[in-house]
Formats: sequence, C-alpha cells, structure tokens
Amino acid sequence: MDFKTRFKLRSPKPGIIMKKVNVKEKFQMFSDHWNPRIVGELNGQQVKLAKLKGEFIWHSHEDEDEMFFIVKGSLKIEFRDKTVELKENEFFIVPRGVEHKPIAEEEVQVMLFEPASTEHTGKEKHKLTNNNQEHL
Ligand code: NI
Repeated sequence: MDFKTRFKLRSPKPGIIMKKVNVKEKFQMFSDHWNPRIVGELNGQQVKLAKLKGEFIWHSHEDEDEMFFIVKGSLKIEFRDKTVELKENEFFIVPRGVEHKPIAEEEVQVMLFEPASTEHTGKEKHKLTNNNQEHL
C-alpha cells in the first residue's frame, strides 16, 4: 500500500470535529466528587476528568483496564495486598479484574482513561455509581 492510501485510511471520518481541550478549564466546570466527566473519546476509549475526595468503594472492572493519571494532588489506591500512592504527574494502570479502592485525603484531580464500556463501580452498586456520565 502506498503512503497516500495509508494516510487516507487513517484520516478522520467526515463530520469529526477536531478541537483542543484545556484540562484546567474543564476542571473549573464542575466541583462534585467521584463523578467523572467525559472530555474525549478515541478508539473506543474515553478520556475522563474527575475530582476525588474521601474514600471510594471496593470494586473491579471485569474486562477493562483503567488508567489513573494524577493532574493535581495525590491519590492512594488500595489493593487487597498493597497500597499505591500516586503524586502529581504520575499514573497507574489498574489491570482488569483487580479489586481497587481509591482514597483521597485531600481533593485530587485525575484523568481517567478506560473503554467506554467500563462501569463506574464494576458490578458493585452504590449511591455514587453513575453509568450515565456527562460529556463536557
Ligand atoms: Ni475503578
């Protein structure tokens, strides 16, 4: 396949809007905790922003890996056998099927990257569970 044909195959579909996203501005648009906003999508994955404070619930995602990138603050993620502490500019990928419980002593701003099919709290249901997350 020649270069031009390959390029054409990789070009955006007609109607796709290309726009830059300012993460800081997006974070200024909401203040609630544990309620991720969808700010981008690519290849079946979603880019989400969330503010976390306090303790979340133990849960796992059977078929999806989940990335936590720390934009501001710090986050602990408890696993059954260890705890990981993440600081600004660090990220962690929680593999599918692994139980985890995020804990934020102070408010933390995180970017999440996960497939669109990912359920917020896996099979667990909780008052914080939101599987109809807002696009910003
Ligand atoms: Ni999770």
